[in-house]
Amino acid sequence: MDGFQNITVNSNKSEMNGTVEWRSPSNIALIKYWGKSGDQIPMNPSISMTLKYAFTQTEIEWSPRENSNEKVFDFYLSGDKVSSGFESKVKALIGRFALKYPVLNKLFFTIKSLNTFPHSTGIASSASGMSALALALLSVVKETSDFGGNYDDFTKEASYFSRLGSGSACRSLYGPYAIWGSGTSGIGNDEYAVPFHPHNDFLRIFDSILIFSKKPKKVGSTLGHSLMNDHPYRNGRIEQVHKNMERLLPAMEQGDFDTWQQVVENEAMSLHGLMMASSTPVMLLAPETIRFLNDLEDFRTGKGLKVAYTIDAGPNVHLLYALEHREIIQDFISNWVMDSKLNMDVIDDETGMGPKQLFE
Ligand code: PMV
Repeated sequence: MDGFQNITVNSNKSEMNGTVEWRSPSNIALIKYWGKSGDQIPMNPSISMTLKYAFTQTEIEWSPRENSNEKVFDFYLSGDKVSSGFESKVKALIGRFALKYPVLNKLFFTIKSLNTFPHSTGIASSASGMSALALALLSVVKETSDFGGNYDDFTKEASYFSRLGSGSACRSLYGPYAIWGSGTSGIGNDEYAVPFHPHNDFLRIFDSILIFSKKPKKVGSTLGHSLMNDHPYRNGRIEQVHKNMERLLPAMEQGDFDTWQQVVENEAMSLHGLMMASSTPVMLLAPETIRFLNDLEDFRTGKGLKVAYTIDAGPNVHLLYALEHREIIQDFISNWVMDSKLNMDVIDDETGMGPKQLFE
């Protein structure tokens, strides 16, 4: 299916100049998407917490393009003109949009993007970046043609296109949590994400991100996902994910922090276990990551703290915790950083409610 069939577009509307701007957050997966096929179809369902302060802000200014062979866009990241890497992904996403919304073939775009957080820190800039870009492009479609969908259709369509840009980006469209991928008690879809609303106790979860390394990822996510194609544990992983979804969703609906902690940490370790056991073994954890997790285990034993760690495809740790244990956890983190004498950053974030349009 190429997008949503119920959205009709009439390109006679003639707003051939204008500016739109969106702010879209990153997200952190609690149950991990790892493995895909075809057109960014996930091997398994995943669920993420939407972040509040880690976001990308993207402005698109558009104007008429006389000749379809002319340059399509200029892309600026934090004020600098970018001509490689991310630019090819921007180009590919504009191409996908133009297949469904040919009005875009008549336009030139000046795209200006900035992130509120540093690169390569364990916060997915592809999730915030691709979702902000998809929202802005869809707004251009809306301004230049009769977009026949309502707000929900618009968000779903933006989630659909965000997925084509970077799989996990489709979850950034919804807060406080988003599910992507089919197969969990009828919830979820492989082509776009849906929102998930937990018990009130999970509405404000803090996320302290311990940055043990700012080096670019050793393994890009395309290669990482491909390691699941012939992975000896593939079937076991699929079974495990479904069981984890079936445990986590009711736990989060009921305010059950113990189950939440078990599942979230099991997912982080499984992701890294899968990487280590791939045909090309991948080790992304740093010695500090392991030391921190061991010290956390010693510190929290017997305290009944509402805290769980998770780790994406890198060495940095996201420590997730409830408001009532904010002080004790933040003290633990500051003491640990001081004792370790590491010159490292900790970024604080929390549950967010999703994207926001700034300018139309
Ligand atoms: O969206 P991608 O292709 O960058 O993959 C993201 C994979 C993980 O971050 C490791 C897990 C996830 O579900 O976000």
